[in-house]
Amino acid sequence: MIEPLKPPGKILLSEQQIQERIAQLGQQITKDYTNSVPLLVGVLKGAFVYMADLARAIDLPVEFDFMAVSSYGNATKTSGVVRIVKDLDIDLSGRDVIVVEDIIDSGLTLSYLRKNLESRGPASLEICALLLRSGRQPNELGLKYVGFEIPPDFVVGYGLDVAERYRNLPDLWSYDESSE
Ligand code: IMP
Ligand code: MG
Repeated sequence: MIEPLKPPGKILLSEQQIQERIAQLGQQITKDYTNSVPLLVGVLKGAFVYMADLARAIDLPVEFDFMAVSSYGNATKTSGVVRIVKDLDIDLSGRDVIVVEDIIDSGLTLSYLRKNLESRGPASLEICALLLRSGRQPNELGLKYVGFEIPPDFVVGYGLDVAERYRNLPDLWSYDESSE
């Protein structure tokens, strides 16, 4: 059987909408971090596509590191347990750190990450999330940069997966879970 490229569901954010918003975020970060060399910390795997585009929209010298945390496994609902699967290589002390996240859902992954990374003594720590599930308060979560607020639907594409599929789609799709 030939495996389908596209998921069941519909496009929620087009490639063009995503790229336009990332250009704005990049300009904002460029302004906010003048005279600094920010360290972008990408949260694998979901953020890898976003991180690549965001970094190229920032007009400053930047450095990269990645960490991997796991809270979902192969499910579409959070397990409630966050663990570090791959840690950073670069020392955070004195650095201006920008955590690059694909999506903030419950905020559980974010609050765990923030606590963990702040204990390593960065000069500053901000979050740049592409997506925020609607109903979550960016201020309460301490989110400085947010790309889009999205409805409750599970989403795939643009780095995000269900069971490791669909990460390479340039648009963001809402995934029809009733198809499973
Ligand atoms: P939180 O801990 O509930 O905020 O979940 C955040 C993490 O869950 C993200 O970094 C994603 O990897 C994953 N996640 C949450 N919602 C979705 C979704 O709709 N599609 C794909 N992954 C998701
Ligand atoms: Mg995931």
